[in-house]
Amino acid sequence: MLREDIERLEQNGITRVAMTRIGDPAVIPLWFGEGDRVTPDFIRVAAKQALDEGYTFYGHMRGRAELRAAIKAYLDRLYRIDIDPDRITVPGSSMLAVTMAAQMTLTSGLHGLIVSPHWPNIDRAYRVTGASYDCVRQRWDARRGWYLDLDDVRAALRPETRALFVNTPCNPTGWVMRADEQRALLALCRERGIVIIADEVYHRTVFDGDAAPSFLEIAADDDPLIVINGFSKAFAMTGWRLGWMVTPPAFVEQMAVLSECFNTSAPSFIQRAGIAALEHGEDVVAELRAEYQAGRACVMEVLGSHPLLELAEPEGAFYAFPRVPGLASSLDFVRGVLAEENVGLAPGYTFGPGNEAYFRLCYAQSGERLAEALRRIVRYLERQAGAIGAR
Ligand SMILES: Cc1ncc(COP(=O)(O)O)c(C=O)c1O
Repeated sequence: MLREDIERLEQNGITRVAMTRIGDPAVIPLWFGEGDRVTPDFIRVAAKQALDEGYTFYGHMRGRAELRAAIKAYLDRLYRIDIDPDRITVPGSSMLAVTMAAQMTLTSGLHGLIVSPHWPNIDRAYRVTGASYDCVRQRWDARRGWYLDLDDVRAALRPETRALFVNTPCNPTGWVMRADEQRALLALCRERGIVIIADEVYHRTVFDGDAAPSFLEIAADDDPLIVINGFSKAFAMTGWRLGWMVTPPAFVEQMAVLSECFNTSAPSFIQRAGIAALEHGEDVVAELRAEYQAGRACVMEVLGSHPLLELAEPEGAFYAFPRVPGLASSLDFVRGVLAEENVGLAPGYTFGPGNEAYFRLCYAQSGERLAEALRRIVRYLERQAGAIGAR
């Protein structure tokens, strides 16, 4: 009864492992992309106040005008640009924006590209469109860390390629794309009529400056570009389900039509909380960044020079994606760490092809818990060194 391609979709490897022990207090969970901090008080107060004031009705399909104005002001301030607020749409989560962007650009018979390693929900969203897709792998070397070679993108293009998904700062590798690389990629996609879907949800989680370079800083209004962003990561609002996207003006009318088929915009009172986050959240962003920076330092100290691992310092986002040379099954590895050491990790295989020797951990956990989790991972790794063939 189900569409065949939907029936074939598998659960992603993160939830596949996590669902076996989710909520177990014995486990230190580094598997999901979130920290252990509750959303700041002033944002929760704004939501409660909005409920009391009666923000319980449908709003504009592309989001409340006052929230879109606040997003415009935030983007203008951050990147020194002047975005047309009409280009902004507010779906209920960045994940929904990923789905909408895929649906807007791809369908059966067309082809998409994903810069990989990548968050698994991205390829699920691509698959649901019925299009075919390929991954363009970021390269790695010990000196440069992760980077994208534009020739690899060129080599993967087909006449029917219509969309290229790039997530920077990147989950899981921590790669941050530079402005000159963004310019070159945009020029290529402009020339070939390909829409760049730029997922910038980790834009504030960089440790060198206030925000990662954004495609919005280098693109013209009518360039083939959809930028996805949201509130989850920068403001510790993962459970709220609020995101935004910026599209060319030519897409705007259909964005409203498409929004109606999804969630007809995000919940009204949550949109009011989003305004509070954008207008008063800079201290939160700075505090979270400092915490994540300490987490990254802790990871690098313990895993960065461990002889059984390869890991370059992540430049952004809050993940480490180490390689265990010789590891044949990332799933067996993370299941072993979970069973024997009570630490929740994500298996590399779920982040696209070529990642069986990797695992991902989220270092957004507060100090001592993270340090303890890292000690346990190392203990398991050293115990298993012979069995996994690591040298
Ligand atoms: C790359 C990337 N894009 C999008 C999302 C979704 O964020 P949201 O919570 O706003 O749906 C995530 C969440 O982990 C992510 O890692």
